[in-house]
Amino acid sequence: MSSKTMQKIKESVNYIKAKAGITPEIALILGSGLGVLADEIENKTAIPYEEIPNFPVSTVEGHAGQLVLGELEGKQVVAMQGRFHYYEGYDMSFITFPVRVMKMLGADKLLVTNSAGGANRHFNVGDFMLISDHINFTGTNPLIGANEDELGPRFPDMSEAYNKELIELAEQVAEKKGITVKKGVYVGFSGPTYETPAEIRMVQGLGGDAVGMSTVPEVIVANHMGMGILGISCITNMAAGILPQPLGHEEVIETANRVKPKFIELLRGIISSVDS
Ligand code: HPA
Repeated sequence: MSSKTMQKIKESVNYIKAKAGITPEIALILGSGLGVLADEIENKTAIPYEEIPNFPVSTVEGHAGQLVLGELEGKQVVAMQGRFHYYEGYDMSFITFPVRVMKMLGADKLLVTNSAGGANRHFNVGDFMLISDHINFTGTNPLIGANEDELGPRFPDMSEAYNKELIELAEQVAEKKGITVKKGVYVGFSGPTYETPAEIRMVQGLGGDAVGMSTVPEVIVANHMGMGILGISCITNMAAGILPQPLGHEEVIETANRVKPKFIELLRGIISSVDS
């Protein structure tokens, strides 16, 4: 990363601030199917990514691609409606740029969601998993390159990338609402292929509980900047080789849509309970 990065972040932040008179405290990255939560944000300003200087633009169809600022459960939030994946072909530092911008807008907490395959045999399709930790199996890291000392340290600590208090809070909210949540380790691959059954056996051997193609880059960058992070996976399918059937995007979308109301209820409850 070069010092130009700081300049670029400031340009993006200034553009967004001129459009939306909001200082967000919570940043949301909404995974597959959850984009509708951004539609529920009140008093909102929505800015298409292509309008924001220096922002990446998604190549995946059906990913709306806008930054939404406003109020949710009485909290000031900024939400990415549509996210970027490494498999789209961009550099990791580029796809995680919006996280830097959201932090510089004021957000100290990041709530990130995703769809994931269940590698833990005790999981069921439709389960929610609070991410306790991750394994970066993407083969790269968004912080590779010159470090921007203003943003964070050269060698960031990752020993509590996922904030314990936020996990506890999420568990309490889930219990109050009668929503069952699991907890586990998210293993991030680059995609776009789903994993092989051998890779899933490896994941199980390493203590991984779910696999996916997102989240790890954003969490590394958010952690670099000292954000408090909560990650939640929706187990949309069992990982490769666990069930005698092939994997497909249709199942992922179908499950994500089916559990969406419950997922949104959980997220709203968490946002409402987070300390300001
Ligand atoms: N593997 C990787 N990414 C995924 C999966 C999976 O099984 N399901 C949803 N996203």
